Amino acid sequence: MKLLTIVGARPQFIKAASVSRAIQQYNHNNSNPIQEIILHTGQHYDKNMSDVFFSEMQIPQPNYHLGIGGSSHGAMTGRMLEKIEEVIFQEKPDVVLVYGDTNSTLAGSLAAVKLHIPVAHVEAGLRSFNINMPEEVNRVLTDQISKWLFCPTETAVKNLQNEGIAERTQALISNVGDVMYDAVLFYRKIAKPTDKISSLIDKLSGNFYLATVHRAENTDDPIRFSNIMDALNNISETTPVVLPLHPRTRKLLGSDYRSQVRLIEPVGYFDMITLLSHCQGVFTDSGGLQKEAFFFKKPCVTLRDETEWVELVEHGVNILAGSSRETIIGAEKLIIQEHKNYSNPLYGDGSAAQKIITSLMEAF
Ligand code: UD1
Ligand code: UDP
Repeated sequence: MKLLTIVGARPQFIKAASVSRAIQQYNHNNSNPIQEIILHTGQHYDKNMSDVFFSEMQIPQPNYHLGIGGSSHGAMTGRMLEKIEEVIFQEKPDVVLVYGDTNSTLAGSLAAVKLHIPVAHVEAGLRSFNINMPEEVNRVLTDQISKWLFCPTETAVKNLQNEGIAERTQALISNVGDVMYDAVLFYRKIAKPTDKISSLIDKLSGNFYLATVHRAENTDDPIRFSNIMDALNNISETTPVVLPLHPRTRKLLGSDYRSQVRLIEPVGYFDMITLLSHCQGVFTDSGGLQKEAFFFKKPCVTLRDETEWVELVEHGVNILAGSSRETIIGAEKLIIQEHKNYSNPLYGDGSAAQKIITSLMEAF
């Protein structure tokens, strides 16, 4: 079987690392190997937003790099669509594999389905029910045109059932668990942080919060953004907040922005999971980080009005604080005081990638 994997943004490299490793394992044990071709759209292109993940996580180097990033939604998606189509013509894959909800996901799935190549969507079925989010548009459309819908949670399966997708499109829906959980289980055993991050953690004696802010709904709205930064500043007065800055957020703040918050460059995955394992809790608008906080048994305050990972809120380990300064500051007190239960296996058993590969191979 020939599989064309399409990635482009940071969280997709992390998800694809688990699946590429499962492919290598499969090929090691079987005489009928899977040929994986990796296409990087270039949506994320800084060294610490892209290359660092390929090298640390030993993801095979991309066979194609389109170099398409840093433009508007339409321009980026359109240019990707055109170039991915050319690669599909050339490679004639049996399946196109896409991840999550970025513009790269939509471009990949659309290019494939128009050429009658079946699409497998990893992280299918997630919904925020907020159609103003670019990610919601990307994932809803990708689910509509995929043949395999690999869901990370039971909620995601239910969302797809409620939409009646399987009846309409004959898609195959399954809850395989979360490939990001697979990644944490594997890499936490071998992750070595950089000296910079080790000494930062030593200096703070593990007494800090980890934060990230990058989502369009926060960074594109000056009031939301300044409320969030104010709240993190306020919290920093008693407990340091370490914030690896997404380039989108860095550009917005400008280089002379000063704050109590410890702003650092985006870090690699090994540094990130080391920070996660030492911090007291997480403040984030990231999708991936909400779950990783749970994997590391850390309370999480989500800087959004809704989340796709509703089971975390239902289990009381995640508080949806939105962008109100007072609510975020209040959430810190609440989340730190209460005892939390992290023992529920909400995201599978760590074999999501293997299940995905088994399912695809059964079809060929
Ligand atoms: C994208 C995804 C979002 C995901 C996030 C992960 C879409 C619509 N959004 O958002 O779902 O959560 O990735 O991080 O696909 N930039 C750089 N260097 C880089 C990458 C980006 O400078 O390596 C800057 C550019 O100015 C760019 C901006 O960040 O225009 C935004 O990047 P883009 O990929 O459009 O969206 P993200 O906010 O990263
Ligand atoms: N991450 C990282 N370095 C950073 C910030 C995030 O390695 O400086 C990792 C994080 O641990 C998680 C993934 O990137 O695995 C989440 O990506 P992001 O927040 O960019 O996107 P989202 O999950 O919101 O789509």
